[in-house]
Amino acid sequence: MRLPPVRPLSFGAILLSALLVAACSNTRPLLPVAAYEKMIVGRVDADYVGTDNCVSRCHSHDKIADDFKHSVHGEQITPETGLPRVNCESCHGPGSLAIAHLETATDRHGDKAKCDSSTLLDLKKLPAQAQSMICLRCHSSASTPSLAHWPTSAHALHDVSCFACHRLHDGPQQKVNHEKMAELCYQCHPEVKTQFNLFSHHPVREKKMDCFDCHNPHGSTQPMLLKGSTVRDTCTRCHMDKSGPFVFEHGDVTEDCTNCHSPHGSVTRRLLTITMPYLCLQCHAGAHQRLLSQNPQEQAIFAQRCTDCHSMIHGSDTPDGLGKGTLRR
Ligand code: HEC
Ligand code: HEC
Ligand code: HEC
Ligand code: HEC
Ligand code: HEC
Ligand code: HEC
Ligand code: HEC
Ligand code: HEC
Ligand code: HEC
Repeated sequence: MRLPPVRPLSFGAILLSALLVAACSNTRPLLPVAAYEKMIVGRVDADYVGTDNCVSRCHSHDKIADDFKHSVHGEQITPETGLPRVNCESCHGPGSLAIAHLETATDRHGDKAKCDSSTLLDLKKLPAQAQSMICLRCHSSASTPSLAHWPTSAHALHDVSCFACHRLHDGPQQKVNHEKMAELCYQCHPEVKTQFNLFSHHPVREKKMDCFDCHNPHGSTQPMLLKGSTVRDTCTRCHMDKSGPFVFEHGDVTEDCTNCHSPHGSVTRRLLTITMPYLCLQCHAGAHQRLLSQNPQEQAIFAQRCTDCHSMIHGSDTPDGLGKGTLRR
């Protein structure tokens, strides 16, 4: 997908949305427009000098510059002009003031002067919303559909910015590395790490899947940032045999698999929230009472797993011997 280069004119729209964001969260004071502009554009009295200038003057030996060249961002070149769509200054702000003094000045030891990075945007100190705005200028939901629900996501609403997950200068990779993703998420969600360490767990620890298989950290229409439109949807992309529809559904309980399963991990086999028969008796307190009153020997039933007989617990297309849907075959 190609994105248009950023033009100063489009900043009007950005400022408007910045102000809307600020206006919606009534806990924070509104910032004057000029302050916001400075926060996402940088010094308005500075000019853009281009990556070549930035790199040859200040970062010629930097691993950063080399990695950037090989990254998706560094590779964005407009065919018509041959100029990059994304360069150092797209995120760090205009750089002319940072290098203005280089030709003439020397530092107090008489060595060549260093670049003055204090005239660039102080990315790390910006408020989270302004940090994300740097990226959202280009990554609108039209160009990056997975960001469509970003503004209402638990992350955006709790001041987690794009920078928290995307470490753009850790190497040429700009996406979140799948191998390292779980560790990244555990930094802020330590309780989830404990869950994946339980006896029964989805194989995240074994690196066969990761958080992104079930969650979209950018936001979603479901609670808990889940992918798909229902919990059943989230799970049946992989567990297709459970998707139904079945002639004999298990009521509507399988709409939400978490009625019986802990999605991350559990001390009980098969990720069950609690062991049988208690799992089932939560909703079927009266199960087998009629049989029990007729034949006390039936008590033995509770010493077995309910699913030893009701093996089609997720739904069945076959009636039992009496033509009923007791989920036994
Ligand atoms: C797509 C946005 C983006 C682009 C393009 C970009 N950077 Fe950065 N850069 C960042 C962010 C975000 C940080 C702050 C990272 C952090 O939070 O530690 C940063 C930090 C830095 C730092 C400080 C590193 C540190 O460890 O403190 C340097 C130096 C730097 N960038 C140089 C460059 C150079 C040179 C280029 C062009 C070759 C460039 N950047 C292009 C987003 C960008
Ligand atoms: C000047 C425009 C611009 C800015 C600012 C920008 N990006 Fe990008 N970004 C692009 C373009 C263009 C692409 C490549 C096309 C695409 O994948 O959408 C891209 C791709 C990416 C990718 C996908 C990499 C891949 O391998 O597919 C990630 C992740 C990303 N950007 C994150 C960020 C983050 C985080 C920021 C803010 C620090 C940011 N970008 C700021 C233009 C920009
Ligand atoms: C909580 C962590 C987290 C935050 C915050 C976050 N991302 Fe991501 N992002 C991810 C993960 C995980 C992926 C999935 C990696 C993949 O596609 O393989 C991803 C993928 C992407 C991609 C490439 C894949 C795609 O969907 O097109 C882009 C572009 C991107 N993020 C941009 C952003 C921008 C811009 C922001 C801030 C508005 C942001 N991200 C905030 C974790 C995060
Ligand atoms: C910088 C810290 C940080 C990082 C990194 C982070 N999160 Fe979060 N996450 C939060 C905060 C803060 C909240 C909102 C408060 C809460 O629910 O705990 C949250 C909420 C969530 C929620 C619950 C959403 C809800 O509706 O309650 C999920 C799911 C989630 N994060 C998944 C992830 C995943 C997956 C990753 C890694 C790709 C990740 N987070 C990385 C800070 C972070
Ligand atoms: C198999 C799918 C699946 C995977 C993989 C998965 N999650 Fe979840 N996660 C869920 C579901 C479903 C819920 C909602 C649980 C509920 O509603 O009881 C959830 C809830 C959460 C929550 C909020 C509630 C809580 O337990 O604190 C966080 C945070 C979270 N997940 C983070 C992560 C992280 C981090 C990873 C990767 C290490 C991850 N998840 C991997 C399915 C998954
Ligand atoms: C990305 C694919 C994927 C998604 C999505 C997924 N699972 Fe799984 N699930 C797996 C894999 C892989 C295993 C391990 C299979 C194995 O070890 O043989 C597994 C195993 C299980 C098990 C059996 C665990 C055991 O101890 O044998 C249950 C129960 C389960 N998943 C439920 C769920 C639920 C509930 C959801 C939705 C919240 C879900 N899964 C979403 C891939 C997935
Ligand atoms: C009414 C409770 C209940 C609900 C709801 C439920 N399950 Fe299960 N599930 C079980 C029980 C009990 C077992 C263990 C069966 C056994 O091994 O005896 C199980 C086992 C599994 C297994 C591993 C064994 C197998 O059959 O493959 C997977 C995978 C699974 N469930 C996925 C799901 C998915 C996906 C959903 C949501 C669509 C879901 N479950 C909803 C009770 C439930
Ligand atoms: C969250 C509540 C819930 C849990 C937990 C639950 N069920 Fe159900 N079950 C239902 C509902 C609702 C129905 C459909 C309404 C009905 O017919 O009673 C149903 C129907 C059934 C039926 C068919 C009843 C009939 O009359 O045809 C059987 C058999 C059954 N469940 C067995 C089990 C077993 C075994 C477990 C444990 C693995 C279990 N259920 C766990 C709610 C639950
Ligand atoms: C030895 C096999 C067996 C075991 C073990 C078993 N069931 Fe059943 N269950 C049956 C049979 C057979 C029927 C059909 C009886 C009928 O239609 O009169 C049935 C019917 C049911 C029904 C629907 C009729 C009713 O009584 O409401 C429910 C609900 C049910 N069982 C739940 C459970 C639960 C919960 C457990 C675990 C505590 C369990 N069953 C263990 C064989 C078993």
